Formats: sequence, C-alpha cells, structure tokens
Amino acid sequence: MAGCYDRGMLPTIAWDGDAIVMVDQRKLPATETYVTCRTVNDVAKAIKTMVIRGAPAIGVCAAMGVALGAARSKATGTKQFVTEFQRNCDLLASTRPTAVNLFWALERMKQSFAEGAQAGESVDQLKARLRQTADRIHDDDVESCRAIGRHGATVVPAEARILTHCNAGALATAGYGTALGVIRGAVEAGKTVAVLADETRPFLQGARLTAWELVRDGIDTTVITDNMAGAMMRAGLVDLVVVGADRIAANGDTANKIGTYSVAILAKEHGIPFYVAAPWSTIDLATPDGSAIPIEERSPREVTHVGTTQVAPDGAKVRNPSFDVTPAKFITAIITERGVYRAPFAESLRPAS
Ligand code: MRU
Repeated sequence: MAGCYDRGMLPTIAWDGDAIVMVDQRKLPATETYVTCRTVNDVAKAIKTMVIRGAPAIGVCAAMGVALGAARSKATGTKQFVTEFQRNCDLLASTRPTAVNLFWALERMKQSFAEGAQAGESVDQLKARLRQTADRIHDDDVESCRAIGRHGATVVPAEARILTHCNAGALATAGYGTALGVIRGAVEAGKTVAVLADETRPFLQGARLTAWELVRDGIDTTVITDNMAGAMMRAGLVDLVVVGADRIAANGDTANKIGTYSVAILAKEHGIPFYVAAPWSTIDLATPDGSAIPIEERSPREVTHVGTTQVAPDGAKVRNPSFDVTPAKFITAIITERGVYRAPFAESLRPAS
C-alpha cells in the first residue's frame, strides 16, 4: 500500500484480498505501519482501539467490516447467514458511540442486505452485494470530501491563516479529508494557506496526524498546544477556523473532538469565522439538538499518560470525554458535499434543501 500517495490520498483503509488493511494511526508519525484485519472481531477492535479513527473513516471501516464478516461466513443457509450478519452489525455498532457515520454506514449495509434478501438472492450473491455496497460507501466518501474541498475553497480568502483542531484529514476519511479537504481545496484553487494545528490533547490527533498529513503535502503547518489558540487569535494570526464533525444535530449543534467548543467560543470573541466541514452522512436529523448526542468517555490513561510517561499522580480522579458539543450559534457555516449551509440550520439542513 505504501507508495500510492497522492495529495490527500493517504492509504487510510483498503482491501487486501478478503482482508482489510489500515494504517495504524496510533503509531503515526513515528512509524508508518499497517494492521491487517481478517475477521469482524479484528475490525471492531481496530475501531475501538483507534487504529482507525475519525467519523467518516470509522463508518467506511464498519461497512467494510460487515462485508468482510459476510465473506468469511461459512453459513450455507440464509437463516444462519442473517443471524451472523445481525451479530456482526451489532458488534460494530458497539465500538464507538458518538460519530453517527458509523450507524449511518451500518444502516446502509442493512438496507442493501434487505434488498438482496427480498429479491431472493443466494448467500453468495448477498456476499457480493455487501462487498459492492461497502466499496460504494468507501468511494463515495472520497468523492464527498473532494466536493467539500471545492465548496470550502470558496470561503477561504486568497491568503489565509487557518486554525484546525484534531484531525479531519485523509486519515479520518477514506481519503482527502473534510476540514483538511477544505484546506487542500483552497491550495488547489491557488490560494496561499498557512495552517495552525492544535495538538489536541489527550490523543494528539492534531500534532501527530494533521501535521503529518499537511507536511507531506508541503502545506505550511505550525503546531500549537491547545491552550495557545486564544493568544494566536488575539495576536491577529488566525483568519478562519475549520474543523470536522462527528455528529451534527438537526439544529446545527455539532459534536466534534473535545476542545472544539472552546475554540468556537474563542473564534466568536475575536470575530473569526468558524466553519464545520462534514459529509452529509454526519448530519443526524433524528437528533434534534446537541444535548441528545452521546459523548464517549475514553480511558483515563489517555489523560494520565503521554505515551508511556505518566504525567498525573496515582490517586487523582480523571475525566476524559472524547467529544464536546459546539452550539450552532457559534458556527458560521457548515460545509458539505452539497454546498455551504448557513444559519438558521434547522431550516437550511432540512431534507428538502
Ligand atoms: O476520536 P477521534 O480521533 O475519532 O475523533 C475525530 C474527530 O473528532 C474528528 O474531528 C471528526 O471525526 C471529523 S473527521 C473528518
């Protein structure tokens, strides 16, 4: 897989025959190693342990995991095949709660399965159909990111210093990225862009992954610790903020990596536009507002340790919510593959639009 690098087209996840191969995002940037998943349990573990992460990427990964589970099934009759299919979907759905793309992708796989079953397809035909649907989800995600990039480029000035939080790049998607898709789209449109990447404690997706991707692309990148964002804005060093999203409620409230909310408030205070970039699969119209979005709480160890070094004393209590919700009132616009949506989001994001 290494060697197929193109701007923003990192090999996040791919088939290797009947197995799924993904770059191990826990090890970047120190080493570029790959994890091979041969069973649906391997795939669930990879999502849970952050080998692969980022809302669209885990949706794509779950869909491929369902196809992999089906391909490996020894079931001869439809009944057993259906039972296994359901069990695999349930297992993958239990991995991470916040990013709606995971559930969206599983729903698409279930729909595809139901259509095939309805048409009386054999087990082999169902296996082939699931693989095709997963591949479509993968390829559509790359297309969506490229369209987000094109739409997003229109809101970026000719010369822009852009702050981003976490990693919403090629690694967080099937390729190209959402927030980093906007940055890549602006560069491809001939704009001069410099990026400030929040390091994004505790998992350091900004320092480790965003900076790694952008440096590989030759884009001017400066890493800052999360607590520097306000000072940078006050010093007039930020023209706009663009972040990704894990779930966007019907009213525009947006769950994204912990710390996004603070960045949004800082941007508002300094009069800096704050954009959210996400594929339509991140919009959850069934969730009315941010208060209903489930927030994952991850292991305390991510906070008490940096790598293998302990930085907090034994006995201290720890909180580690992995996401926060940015109220819609702090969001200038939501950039999707369908275009740029502005407030009031409850109206602009409605299905007919
Ligand atoms: O915990 P992670 O690394 O999966 O969180 C990722 C984020 O919060 C991203 O900003 C979000 O998923 C958008 S990715 C295009």
